[in-house]
Amino acid sequence: MIIETHPTYQALSEAAAQLIIQQLKQKPSSVLCFASGDTPKLTCERLVALAQQQAIDVSQCAFIGLDEWVGIAPDTEGSCYKFFQEKLIVPLGLKPNQVRLFDGLAQNLQSECEATDKFIAQRGGIDIMLVGVGMNGHIGFNEPGVDQTVACHVIDLEPITTSVGQKYFTGTKVLKQGITVGFRHIMNSQQLLVMANGAKKAPIIKAMLEGDITPKMPASLVRNHAHVWVMVDTEAAMGLTSTKSI
Ligand code: F6R
Repeated sequence: MIIETHPTYQALSEAAAQLIIQQLKQKPSSVLCFASGDTPKLTCERLVALAQQQAIDVSQCAFIGLDEWVGIAPDTEGSCYKFFQEKLIVPLGLKPNQVRLFDGLAQNLQSECEATDKFIAQRGGIDIMLVGVGMNGHIGFNEPGVDQTVACHVIDLEPITTSVGQKYFTGTKVLKQGITVGFRHIMNSQQLLVMANGAKKAPIIKAMLEGDITPKMPASLVRNHAHVWVMVDTEAAMGLTSTKSI
């Protein structure tokens, strides 16, 4: 596990974007899977800018959206779908056959899960994942108590996730369930990049890195990943006893 502490959110985002660019340079057909949310916003912007400046070939890569709110239409401001479209897919010019995003309004959510499982399997697995950490330690919508063996699945969300989740939307939304890439895919990814910034994430980052490795704190499970980078800013790292990589 590599732990990197960066002085600012800007520096953190730059480092994460550089890592993704390196991956795309090494393997243009990389399979990427990113979270949406506040944490990766600037990374996505820097990634797009760097890809354009360096004329990175993105025509062969594949992109998977990590999760979605069940019951939220794709074109809703605040949906993960809209985030991925606006921040990555449109600016990078990715074609529909390169992209797999969950539809939170799908009639058959199980088929949505299976379609993403298939998309991942057909491309030989995920090369690099960029994930954030929720206020209850979730990764994607893998909530506390998560079954580590499951692939894509639908899950009931904890009240903390549904209340924090309101920040993405204009007006109150009914948020009850999420659809998400599961821990089986997360643990099988070639590289996992976990990001967090801001003082409010400090207790979670401490529990994730210095507490027990337990499904009760899903983020702690990433310590068992073979190639994991934890990238935080100094505020999120503030509670840590040690920031030594192991
Ligand atoms: C969103 C996602 C979530 C977020 C987490 C942190 O697609 O997968 O797990 O990464 O809730 O959210 P932010 O970054 O808004 O603090």
